[in-house]
Amino acid sequence: MRLLITGGAGFIGSNFVRYILKKYPGYGIVNLDKLTYAGNLENLADIEGDSRHEFVHGDICDPDCVHKLMSGSVDAVVNFAAESHVDRSILDSSEFVRTNIEGTRNLLDISRRNKIGRYIQISTDEVYGSLGDSGAFTEETPIAPNSPYSASKAAADLLVRSYCHTHGFPAVITRCSNNYGPCQFPEKLIPLLVSNAMSDIPLPIYGDGMNVRDWIHVEDHCAAIDAVLHRGETGEVYNVGGRQEIPNIEVARRILAALGKSESLLTYVEDRPGHDRRYAIDSTKIETELDWKPRITFAAGLPETIAWYRRNASWMERVRSGAYLKYYDDMYGRRKQTLSAR
Ligand code: NAD
Ligand code: TYD
Repeated sequence: MRLLITGGAGFIGSNFVRYILKKYPGYGIVNLDKLTYAGNLENLADIEGDSRHEFVHGDICDPDCVHKLMSGSVDAVVNFAAESHVDRSILDSSEFVRTNIEGTRNLLDISRRNKIGRYIQISTDEVYGSLGDSGAFTEETPIAPNSPYSASKAAADLLVRSYCHTHGFPAVITRCSNNYGPCQFPEKLIPLLVSNAMSDIPLPIYGDGMNVRDWIHVEDHCAAIDAVLHRGETGEVYNVGGRQEIPNIEVARRILAALGKSESLLTYVEDRPGHDRRYAIDSTKIETELDWKPRITFAAGLPETIAWYRRNASWMERVRSGAYLKYYDDMYGRRKQTLSAR
């Protein structure tokens, strides 16, 4: 099988590329990524030179680029490419609308034209909005996004749904909870707190620290996407969650404890506007229909993730300083020659 993976230089996409190459030695991957601030080719450094993986620097909104890639032999598309950070969407939502909505539309239209047999839209539990103290999102929960980020993801989901309904397009949507693991950009809670704690910088906790997220290890998310890619029903939505709901302040305390740092680093800061209080996912459908289950507990996955960031302190340092962008320039300079030879 040959996959077009978009956003494969980002956090989850790069983990998925590695997961697929390891599990399916016969698969090929075309990895289309615009390399925004969140895209980092250093996330793929360990598979550099693997001929089964071809990196293409490009934009999912660019019809010519996408068409050129799909008119080769692509069997399935997995769309990870997105602007993904809620705080940035509050400051400026324009790129969120462009990439997350228009980019998805472009992929859908060109996939349809090229008769792609399977399309997976990587969505988020945030499209469902916020929960009170009890209950969990099911696939039947009405869409009620609260941030410009989640609104753009919800709009993309609705487009995908409409293409399935109207055109019989073979798409499936996954909606996953908060991921953690190696290679996550340190604007998101866990890598930000780990990085700050490692450098004895205060850990910013929004509001009262009692907002709850359902944490899932990225490896479990990759396994869920694998299940949906190979066994999911066309037109369906699958929720994916870790069944590990934890308030932010507790996450911060566990990080400090694992690193042997003082709780005096905890610093309550002004709350995020419109901050969703609680997310919890009911993933019964994917568990029963596709035989998937999260395997990595937060108790095991968090220390292992912290250990990864400690072992890869230079990765963190290069991301925080912007030096990874230089690596990107060097790599792209070389790739451009490969690309023009296509
Ligand atoms: P990320 O921000 O780490 O990576 C996004 C990647 O997309 C980057 O490599 C970036 O360069 C690329 N990209 C952005 N705009 C592009 C464009 N126009 N064309 C091509 N590439 C582009 O994000 P992530 O955390 O890896 O999330 C991946 C997907 O999973 C997103 O769709 C996100 O909504 C979804 N998701 C994330 C989480 C989470 O906890 N991180 C949870 C559920 C769902
Ligand atoms: P984040 O990682 O941005 O993911 P999302 O907003 O998509 O769930 O944030 C996770 C939670 O952590 C969320 O409740 C906001 C909170 N948070 C902080 O308290 N401090 C921070 O510095 C960040 C980035 C997030």
